[in-house]
Amino acid sequence: MSTTFQLDTATSRANPTPAPVKRLTIPAIRRRKKNGTTDQPIVMLTAYTARQAQLLDEHCDLLLVGDSLGQVIYGLPSSVPVTLDMMIAHGAAVVRGSWHAAVLVDLPFGTYEASPAQAFQTSARILKETGCAGVKLEGGEAMAETVRFLTQRGIPVMGHVGLTPQAVNQLGGYGARGRDAAEAEKIIADARALDEAGAFSIVVEGVVEPIAIAMTEAVSCPVIGIGGSARCDGQVLVTEDMVGMFERVPRFVKRYADVASVISQAAADYAAEVKDRSFPGIEQTYQPK
Ligand code: KIV
Repeated sequence: MSTTFQLDTATSRANPTPAPVKRLTIPAIRRRKKNGTTDQPIVMLTAYTARQAQLLDEHCDLLLVGDSLGQVIYGLPSSVPVTLDMMIAHGAAVVRGSWHAAVLVDLPFGTYEASPAQAFQTSARILKETGCAGVKLEGGEAMAETVRFLTQRGIPVMGHVGLTPQAVNQLGGYGARGRDAAEAEKIIADARALDEAGAFSIVVEGVVEPIAIAMTEAVSCPVIGIGGSARCDGQVLVTEDMVGMFERVPRFVKRYADVASVISQAAADYAAEVKDRSFPGIEQTYQPK
């Protein structure tokens, strides 16, 4: 679909022309899973910028402004240093660049764990300042009370269990979770607690496949897998991984393109033309009339 974008100065949203479709709602996504099955799997990708959102939007049900932007955009060593201001700036850009997918923003480490009230203040600021539809937070049973508090106060919450990257210092790395029976049971219990607390969906990351399947069957809300199973109710990937921006990717990533090579080749061609003075050419220079 070829689309142009006009900025609506009243809302600062980039409105596409031709007319937009109605934006997906969180209740509509939640309803995809009925009686334990999801006929139409949920498509989710990360997005951090307005242009990226424009390109991904028509293909996705959910766009996640993930705190993985710490590593992907800012070159940080983990998501731990990511700030609320970073999440809000990128969240607002993604909302402006999209019109179809529901947009979620991650609560960054240190802005929600202390209490349900702290989580509410952070989430309310994110919803007000970005226009997004809901938030995602990491943690299971320990976060259930917070999820209940937020959902009862009008904030849709997606949970995130299994490998939870904000807990990298406690987990000791990014390896797959649930390899022993106790950890497997804990991941399912975490998912159940979030489901009962009102999470509209749960991400399960980096777990051995039988756990992802068991978890999907154990909860009533849709489960979105990343390093989970094709039998989850939907899938998410970090877009930069999926399009091949990095040499090293986790096992669970499938590369659908090699964008790094395209950019690198374009830069090499440009550099060569600058050096041999063939750029700018007649087409790129202003001539007197
Ligand atoms: O931050 C992120 O990108 C995420 C996804 C990997 C689910 O949480």
